[in-house]
Amino acid sequence: CKIRHYNFTVVLKNTTRLCATKPIVTVNGQFPGPTLYAREGDNVLARVTNHVQHNVTIHWHGVRQLRTGWSDGPAYITQCPIQPGQNFLYNFTVTGQRGTLLWHAHISWLRSTMHGAIVILPKKGVPYPFPKPYKEKVIILGEWWKADTEAVVNQAMQTGLAPNVSDAHTINGHAGPLANCSSEGAYTLHVETGKTYLLRVVNAAVNEELFFKIAGHNLTVVEVDAVYTKPYKTDTLFLGPGQTTTSLLTADQGIGKYLIAVSPFMDTIVAVDNLTAVGFLRYNHTLAFTPTTLTSIPPVNATSVTEVFSKSLRSLNSKEYPANVPLTIDHSLFFTIGIGINPCATCVNGSRAVAAINNVTFDMPTTALLQAHYYGISGVFTDDFPAKPLIPFNYTGTPPSSLQTMNGTRVYRLAYNSTVQLIIQGNSIIAPESHPTHLHGFNFFAVGRGVGNFDPEKDPLKFNLVDPVERNTISVPTAGWTAIRFRADNPGVWFFHCHLEVHTTWGLKMAFLVENGKGPNESLIPPPSDLPQC
Ligand code: C2O
Repeated sequence: CKIRHYNFTVVLKNTTRLCATKPIVTVNGQFPGPTLYAREGDNVLARVTNHVQHNVTIHWHGVRQLRTGWSDGPAYITQCPIQPGQNFLYNFTVTGQRGTLLWHAHISWLRSTMHGAIVILPKKGVPYPFPKPYKEKVIILGEWWKADTEAVVNQAMQTGLAPNVSDAHTINGHAGPLANCSSEGAYTLHVETGKTYLLRVVNAAVNEELFFKIAGHNLTVVEVDAVYTKPYKTDTLFLGPGQTTTSLLTADQGIGKYLIAVSPFMDTIVAVDNLTAVGFLRYNHTLAFTPTTLTSIPPVNATSVTEVFSKSLRSLNSKEYPANVPLTIDHSLFFTIGIGINPCATCVNGSRAVAAINNVTFDMPTTALLQAHYYGISGVFTDDFPAKPLIPFNYTGTPPSSLQTMNGTRVYRLAYNSTVQLIIQGNSIIAPESHPTHLHGFNFFAVGRGVGNFDPEKDPLKFNLVDPVERNTISVPTAGWTAIRFRADNPGVWFFHCHLEVHTTWGLKMAFLVENGKGPNESLIPPPSDLPQC
């Protein structure tokens, strides 16, 4: 194992897209930012130096951060932000994971332009559990706003209305020829006939679940969220923001130029950026071909495509990479998630959109929860997050008459190494919507999913406890539910939230507090001396 040193310098960079130039907050002046490479077992030392006038933090999304919660990154959850002119050394070891993840800013909406891939290679000498690819490519999907995204979110919070949707989707930073002034720089994947490529696709978008498709070619998924899967052949990838999918692509078609398309998924009435981002797959460096068209970009409301994709993923569950699904449950939790409306005297319409888990809209503290926990600072949070809805109702039927949520900074406490089953139930108080939900500090097993209300009698009988997909972010289907299980083997405070940033902003978030164990390596390590203070 070795030490990997990275310098992430946060700087403004004038960037031109969609016919206009604006300064954006970047890491090292790049959009998307640099790829972080490590091998399983390596120690990563990433120094983040803030040269902009915003507070910043970086989250290493999906990196488990075993006992190193101080380096996890969500602002006011595990750390106070890095203030202008300051720096912080993120220090963590990559343990028991291999594949593709992403890093991104974790404060306000800065992740719209501050994000990049994390590639975790197997330990030296350990092969992939699939044929060795000829080359590997990182493909980062994102969004572009003509306006400054901090202005977009601030305006939404002031008016109480939904924020604007993005103006284009991007593939490695470029929207491609369907967007204005965007033909130049369109992403091109060069391939040689007969060779196989490993595509590491990252959805770094802020507010969009996305389809990814290459004309004329199938992809064989081999890993998601840095966990190997059984090979799954498909013509369409589906990724919520925060999710990663690694697949094999064989250049087995006629020489030519093929379209790559990235388009949004939204199966309800919520506004969406409907512009398809386009790139090209080009064989043997030929220039003179007109691209083939994509015969079928999934329609924006293609629920069936997302369900087939989600239900087809399975853990590899081999001898080397077993799926250790918890078979007993210490904490049986039921969280309803969704959007609501609360009164707001200063807002347009006198109300604002909010989001909640079990009817609790999370209030961001002004001291980091992990610091408050470690130092025993009282008054920052309470540990009474409800294990189930306080007043049960027909979650996917007629909403209750009282829509108002309560505010609070509540965590749910877990003993070290206890096991958790969590049913995440989408509700339809305002608009039922698919929610890509992310848990920090853990991978979980997605043991079941369904439409309508979760049935505690019948649905558990159908859970997959053998080889369910293991990941860190899972879509909860529109007016449906997802069941996950995990073992609380990582002491610290761990954020849980919808990875559609607009919903996080509105309060669809909470945190788990995992206590220290009694054994020698079962405690959160002490905070680093340069940990930022609030
Ligand atoms: Cu990738 Cu808390 O997020």
